[in-house]
Amino acid sequence: MTDLLIKELKGPPKSPLLLRRLRGLRFIFNPLEVLEARTAVYGNDYRVSQPGVSSPLIYFSSPEALEALFTAKPDQVSAGKANQILEPLIGEHGIVLLEGTAHQQQRQLLTPPFHGDRMRSYAEVIMEITTRTIAGLDVGKTLTVRPIMQSISLEVILRAVFGLDAGDRYEELKQTLSAMLDGFGSPLGAMVLFYRFLQKDWGDWSPWGRFLRLRRRVDELLYAEITFRRSHPDPSRTDILALLMMAQDTEGKTLSDVELRDELMTLLFAGHETTASALAWAIYWITSLPDVRHKVLQEIETIEGKSVSDPMVISRLPYLSAVCQETLRLYPIAIGAFPRVVKQPVILAGYALEPGTVIMPSIYLAHHRQEVYPESKKFRPERFLERQFSPYEYLPFGGGNRRCIGSAFAMFEMKLVLFQFLSTLEMKPVHTQPIKPTRRGLTIAPSDKLKLGVKLRYSQIKSENSYLKPELI
Ligand code: HEM
Repeated sequence: MTDLLIKELKGPPKSPLLLRRLRGLRFIFNPLEVLEARTAVYGNDYRVSQPGVSSPLIYFSSPEALEALFTAKPDQVSAGKANQILEPLIGEHGIVLLEGTAHQQQRQLLTPPFHGDRMRSYAEVIMEITTRTIAGLDVGKTLTVRPIMQSISLEVILRAVFGLDAGDRYEELKQTLSAMLDGFGSPLGAMVLFYRFLQKDWGDWSPWGRFLRLRRRVDELLYAEITFRRSHPDPSRTDILALLMMAQDTEGKTLSDVELRDELMTLLFAGHETTASALAWAIYWITSLPDVRHKVLQEIETIEGKSVSDPMVISRLPYLSAVCQETLRLYPIAIGAFPRVVKQPVILAGYALEPGTVIMPSIYLAHHRQEVYPESKKFRPERFLERQFSPYEYLPFGGGNRRCIGSAFAMFEMKLVLFQFLSTLEMKPVHTQPIKPTRRGLTIAPSDKLKLGVKLRYSQIKSENSYLKPELI
């Protein structure tokens, strides 16, 4: 009976190794094009073969398949070990690479600090950092958007995770971490993450050598902070490092220095570039589309001045929220969620899968299914005001027991930063061509061609309480 329900996954016929390697390269340089081309021929769920790997690789983007995957039991499919590509960056002890009970315990520990009442205390930090960043901008000059957003989101995460404030270690950590991630900031730079044979230390001038040296320095700074905090215990601290240092497992064991380092790197890595790229995209859409810009400004003006002190009001603005949702739909920063590996023979959404099968949940393809999102390439925030989407139709933060623990935090940060930029500055796009998504490590981001001309908004110039440098007014 079950056999009758089994469906066949279509996919390209097995081709010679060289051709598959070339296709692999194409995926690094043009991932969206490759995904679209394959789904047009083989459907929402399909299989491909990987060069040099015998286990099948399949892509899921139909809501039925994604639901089956995200609700499967951890002993049927798991992530964790399949994320090895991230190990050089974040180590093997962080939540992303953990599995089973260890993963579950880490999630229980890390989820509360990114939700609920804690948001209010982060709001102050986010507002203050954004205000300072805007005040330091070279108004009148052409500005490249993504690095500005990256600086904000990195400072925010450093403060939330470490409770670190200005100081030498903070500044150096910021610079070194940015330089380290910038190394993967282009498709060419990202290749080194995908191909192990490129991961060779050929000295300072080689991409991997440079990465290793920067990572060593980041590690020194992280371990110095951990040592300092161990020797200066302060029970009044509420940051995430303090929380991790106090945490004990069922046998009363606390996290070692290496485990703490890996968790900190995970949060720094997962939490800032993603949010920065999302913010840069949002600015792109708002500044390029007059209708969107008009609506978002109109909404902001309804509360401007009155409720700026209440970030919760800002975070609930319906149109601004829809803009953020649509931003993460059209070009989701993570085009796929973490790969899942089948542990035991299982039938998911009618597909019979063998152990070892790797499943890629494709966020990008799910977000461009025309039956759910008509004219999917069009930026239309109204979609999110007109109807609700299921977690298997809209999944910028992945799903199931791996769903991003920073999703609420990231959305909150996006809205507060956008609110401050829009209520303070007039921003005009400088580019004449549409900005294309480009690979940045394992994510996609707007290219650095996204530049803006900015000047102060009239209301800011008038404001006696303007916090901007007097010489700018
Ligand atoms: C716009 C910003 C962000 C996007 C688009 C994003 C996206 C994602 C995605 C797609 C996953 C994989 C989920 C899955 O495989 O089902 C993930 C996991 C994760 N994210 Fe985010 N993320 C963002 C911001 C953040 C922030 C701010 C933090 C925290 C500081 C964070 C921490 C994590 C962690 C720790 C995981 C691993 C969860 C696990 O393995 O259980 N992310 N994120």
